[in-house]
Amino acid sequence: MTAQRACGVGDVAVSAAMKVELDGIAIAIVKDSSGAIHAIGDTCTHGEISLSEGFVEDEAIECWAHGSQFALRTGKPMNLPAYEPVPVFPVIIDGDDVLVDVQNPLKQN
Ligand code: FES
Repeated sequence: MTAQRACGVGDVAVSAAMKVELDGIAIAIVKDSSGAIHAIGDTCTHGEISLSEGFVEDEAIECWAHGSQFALRTGKPMNLPAYEPVPVFPVIIDGDDVLVDVQNPLKQN
């Protein structure tokens, strides 16, 4: 486990996202509508758009460019035009810190 600090728990509002960079990888730290925190690849698989600039709804984030939504737990697109998933990374909440393991993305089936 090579988790490293991405941000503070309070740095991200509910139903919002922020971009961080860890080991040169752009990550979107997303707090869903229930307050759970997720870490996914920040770049939409349809284009070079930052997903953290999109809209968070329930457990998904929507790319503002063409409307593809990605499931925060799996990284899978829920609608076209994107059809490739974004990576999802393990998150550990350590006190007030959000730790992300960017070297070990979750397996996607
Ligand atoms: S760039 Fe994200 S849906 Fe097109």
